[in-house]
Amino acid sequence: MTKVAEIFASLEYGPAPESPSPVLQWLDRHDRTFGLFIGGRWVKAASGESFETVNPATGNPIARVAQAGPKDVDAAVRAARKALGPWRALSGHARAVHLYAIARGIQKHSRLFSVLESLDNGKPIRESRDIDIPLVARHFYHHAGWAELMDTELADCAPLGVVGQIIPWNFPLLMLAWKIAPALAAGNTVVLKPAEFTPLTAILFAQLCEEAGLPPGVVNIVTGDGRTGELIVKHADVNKIAFTGSTDVGRLIRVTTAGSGKKLSLELGGKSPFVVFDDADLDSVVEGVVDAIWFNQGQVCCAGSRILVQEGVGERLVEKLRARMETLRVGDPLDKAVDIGAIIAPVQLEKIQRLVRQGEQEGATIWQPSWSAPKDGYFFPPTLCTNVAPAATIAQVEIFGPVVVLMTFRTPAEAVELANNTPYGLAASVWTENINLALDLAPKIKAGTIWINCTNMFDAAAGFGGYKESGFGREGGREGIWEYVKPAWEEPHGRQKREKPQRRQVGHSPAASAATAASAAPIDRTAKLYIGGKQVRPDQGYSLIIHDAAGRLAGEVAHGNRKDIRNAVEAARKADGWGRATAHNRAQILYYVGENLSVRAEEFSARLTRLTGVREKEAAAEVDLSIRRLFVYAAWADKWDGQVHHTPYRNVTMAMPEPLGVVGIACPDEPALLGFVSLFGPAVAMGNPVVIVPSERWPLLATDLYQVLETSDVPDGVVNIVTGKRDELVEVLASHDEVDAMWYFGSLEGSAAVERLSAGNLKRTWVSYGHARDWTSAQQGEGQEFLRRATQVKNIWIPYGE
Ligand code: NAI
Repeated sequence: MTKVAEIFASLEYGPAPESPSPVLQWLDRHDRTFGLFIGGRWVKAASGESFETVNPATGNPIARVAQAGPKDVDAAVRAARKALGPWRALSGHARAVHLYAIARGIQKHSRLFSVLESLDNGKPIRESRDIDIPLVARHFYHHAGWAELMDTELADCAPLGVVGQIIPWNFPLLMLAWKIAPALAAGNTVVLKPAEFTPLTAILFAQLCEEAGLPPGVVNIVTGDGRTGELIVKHADVNKIAFTGSTDVGRLIRVTTAGSGKKLSLELGGKSPFVVFDDADLDSVVEGVVDAIWFNQGQVCCAGSRILVQEGVGERLVEKLRARMETLRVGDPLDKAVDIGAIIAPVQLEKIQRLVRQGEQEGATIWQPSWSAPKDGYFFPPTLCTNVAPAATIAQVEIFGPVVVLMTFRTPAEAVELANNTPYGLAASVWTENINLALDLAPKIKAGTIWINCTNMFDAAAGFGGYKESGFGREGGREGIWEYVKPAWEEPHGRQKREKPQRRQVGHSPAASAATAASAAPIDRTAKLYIGGKQVRPDQGYSLIIHDAAGRLAGEVAHGNRKDIRNAVEAARKADGWGRATAHNRAQILYYVGENLSVRAEEFSARLTRLTGVREKEAAAEVDLSIRRLFVYAAWADKWDGQVHHTPYRNVTMAMPEPLGVVGIACPDEPALLGFVSLFGPAVAMGNPVVIVPSERWPLLATDLYQVLETSDVPDGVVNIVTGKRDELVEVLASHDEVDAMWYFGSLEGSAAVERLSAGNLKRTWVSYGHARDWTSAQQGEGQEFLRRATQVKNIWIPYGE
């Protein structure tokens, strides 16, 4: 028999298994076979197809679930559509009551949910019991609150309609909660597809919806693989797609939904940096690494998979990490003493093995503990890779396993550079005892979440989501709710007013022949492009002739091309200091632009009348409103504040709106001046350098603004204006990897092209699909919608206390 003294000496744990029997009974009650949950009923797949879900810790099948095909997805969407009217007609309070009921049900059945999650996914029971399931309940409670407050806090918003939701296998029930809770709170109905590896907790959740009395059709669960996901994405009667998963599939979904009018949020992969300064508490850092990369076997989109450590403490950290890794336990997920469970499936295990081998071939030192992982089931030991070059495959690619790479840096500037040396931007953590240093770094790292001296903290009150190729949209918090609503003034799906077709009178000709044509009418000199604070000739020297409303020649503008757009983007990139300028400074400059425009109001008014043929009064009103709008955004510049979220930890969680980066803007044809100003104002006020393609029909209003900008102290490169054929120029902008966001107000075809071409670097897009917007209305033409579009929220978590 082991003596107590021996136990103290080794601190060995015995196994402490959680009993699977309630789950096994539940499975047996259903003959280990499950159908689809559509319109509140359980049905078989129309094709009769089904597939097995497997326990990754043993490789043994757990149950069979249905593979939903076209007919099933169609039935689910129809059920959701049918349920939509009554569901959105309920008061916010009534919807809140339903969400509270679900939250309570989750808590009541938390043991069943936790064990089922661990069986189906392979994650340690400690994690499903203490992290996943409590957070699921927390999300439903939090969003029950949003439902309650919808009528007052989001009075100008309407639900989107039927939402298609596709989720991954790493946090099956948690991702379901992140998707379903806000969707229902805002009055939408959903069709959700769980991942094929982990469908079971979604099925149990559907049963809970029945038990809690949720109206049929409000939640529909269709199981299946990627084909089912694709059917949801392509379904014509779905108004939004919310997706979490790989960047490749996210990109595909962006392309597939282009031009469909479906709202889209994507939460994709990451390669998150874990930055350690030499003054950090290294013992805390070691526990941080355990949470960052060995939580959920490293199968976490925001896993801290790249340790960047300051040179002086690199070796000590490696030593400490190796010692800690020796004590980690890999094994049966249902054992409460296990730290690392099973990898989801053979395909994922092979991917991890392949990448580690590749890392070794590329020169990295691979270190694993002396013990070996269990051979039954799909296990992989914790792995630390050192001697890794920043460009090595394992330093760049998302491994999605318990494998971390370690690199060193010397200075804070180098740390930032390395941290940002990735196409991803989901999260980062920064470890230092110097809070000033940490808070200096936080805004410089391009990621949606920054954890200071902590990692992998989540809460329903704090939005979560990516920068760059980690996707767009947020889940959680107020910003998460925006993803499930639209402005109430927008007509129901498919019934919006189309923009009036324009009389196309814009011709183009080489400057020489233009000169001949021009001799017929008095023409001003050709307006150039405005790039990097200077008026420049277009690359090819061509110009476009502009006619006035009566068809008379009115002037010429430069016919910009691909090269000109590239130059403009380069100039805008160089002006990225604009985002770091104080909001006060940005406000002053916008006021100045407004003032300078008002000095020349009469001239602009006359120009508008002459060009567009509007009456003098209307022209004066447009100029007036444009000036006012500049003042409005100057006013907003230092008032579109962040928040401190009430997260339930000893933590300050700051939500900061940050600029997007370079924003490409294609202005509506009309109103030429007001349209330009209404888009330029919010983008620039929020710190984004812009490349603007003005109205194709009336570009002279924009080129007249050059002098206003020049006299208003707008720093060089903050505003760049390229005239020419709008859709031609927009294609270049939308596919340019150095452009971070693209706003397009024009045709449906142009909108589709922008969305499709944006997939390369997953830029944030805002397009009009050819629908009209009343730019003169304060509701449609200005305000918070514009400010939200011009920013992305970063959440910074700072723990307090000793
Ligand atoms: P995946 O992106 O293929 O799967 C995620 C979800 O999308 C699943 O429900 C799947 O059925 C569905 N899906 C697949 N193809 C689809 C399509 N064409 N249209 C619509 N839905 C589709 O991810 P997978 O294959 O499970 O894992 C591959 C890699 O992706 C992993 O090795 C990991 O690197 C990464 N990944 C990242 C996640 C994250 O949270 N960032 C989550 C899961 C995987």
